[in-house]
Amino acid sequence: MNSIAKAIKISDSVYWVGAVDWTVRDFHGYQTGRGTTYNAYLIMADKITLVDTVKDQFKDELLSRISSVVDPGKIDYIISNHSEMDHSGCLPEMIGIINPEKVFASAAGQKTLESHFRIGSKITPVKNGEDLSLGNMNISFIETKMLHWPDSMFSYLKEEQILFSQDAFGMHLAVDKLFDDQNNWEIIEEEAEKYFANILMPYSNLILKLLESVQAMHLPIKIVATDHGPLWRSNIGKIMALYKQWSEHKPVSRAIIVYDTMWNSTAVMAKAIGEGLVESGVEYKILPMSVSHRSDVATELLKSSAIIAGSPTLNNNIFPTMADVLTYIKGLRLSNMIGASFGSYGWSGEAVAQVNDYLKSMNVEIVGDPVKIKYVPTEADLKACFEMGKLVGTTLKAKIKQ
Ligand code: FEO
Repeated sequence: MNSIAKAIKISDSVYWVGAVDWTVRDFHGYQTGRGTTYNAYLIMADKITLVDTVKDQFKDELLSRISSVVDPGKIDYIISNHSEMDHSGCLPEMIGIINPEKVFASAAGQKTLESHFRIGSKITPVKNGEDLSLGNMNISFIETKMLHWPDSMFSYLKEEQILFSQDAFGMHLAVDKLFDDQNNWEIIEEEAEKYFANILMPYSNLILKLLESVQAMHLPIKIVATDHGPLWRSNIGKIMALYKQWSEHKPVSRAIIVYDTMWNSTAVMAKAIGEGLVESGVEYKILPMSVSHRSDVATELLKSSAIIAGSPTLNNNIFPTMADVLTYIKGLRLSNMIGASFGSYGWSGEAVAQVNDYLKSMNVEIVGDPVKIKYVPTEADLKACFEMGKLVGTTLKAKIKQ
């Protein structure tokens, strides 16, 4: 075994046995600048139970941590809360090593695990609300379909009041200290927000419903044990409130200007638009795509209610970096956004209309006409950009008052 890692006790009977990934910087297109963890848990009940596994390449770390508490062969049950491969990658091998009595997943999880690893016949499907006896302890399953996969579910350990929440409430943050209160709040809030924006934002309506239904269950929760980053014990109310706020995405007085440029004309336009936003009293941030990552644009959008997007025309088309970011954020299904488009061109100038169409296809409410200028902006062109920024700002202010 290529690891000497040990388990960390998180409650009387539960150990964290996950893996820390200090290296990962790209998580399917999401820039993970601070690494991540793949959390897994060992419940030392009469029926010894492993909750989730880890990414395949971290199997030895998982096994080493488990072995510091118990011989892996003594594990009776495995629960798979979520089939995505960062949590199930080594599940087939772990089933081979452990030979558990049963492996539990949701019905959709059984199908997904079959499609990934052809192990569907080894899975016992569980239903929403179903209880599982571990002898001296009990687990309840709560389905969380499409949060963020069809198979996703929570498991709740009644006796120790631990909610195993898989990806929900998680973040990509490699840590050596496991709990929220042992880490810097500014960093964990920033990373939780980035995680929500990039992974969960498309399912905001479902999150609101889930928060309501979990609250209606009146489950006492001492620890929210997520599958990524620190576990919540001191700020459970705070992270739930933030999830509500992020899911609602109510209008705020903040805009982003996202653009790329070839010979600086679109860049100069972006700055003039920013001046117009300032004039209207709206805060803004400019994100040049030459130095910004799409996943940071997503996070900034979550904090904003207007997007102003600009592109030069390159070979009759939108600039490639702009196509990238707009495609990415279109998939995040923004709500409650207004916006506008702008750009420069030399001959034909198709890009601005293409950007505008992108924004419309994202259900962004378009404000005013796009501003499109030839080659290098004149003073009058920059005034038009300023007016565009001002119009977006005043429209946003009016929307906030409604
Ligand atoms: Fe952390 Fe959806 O996997």
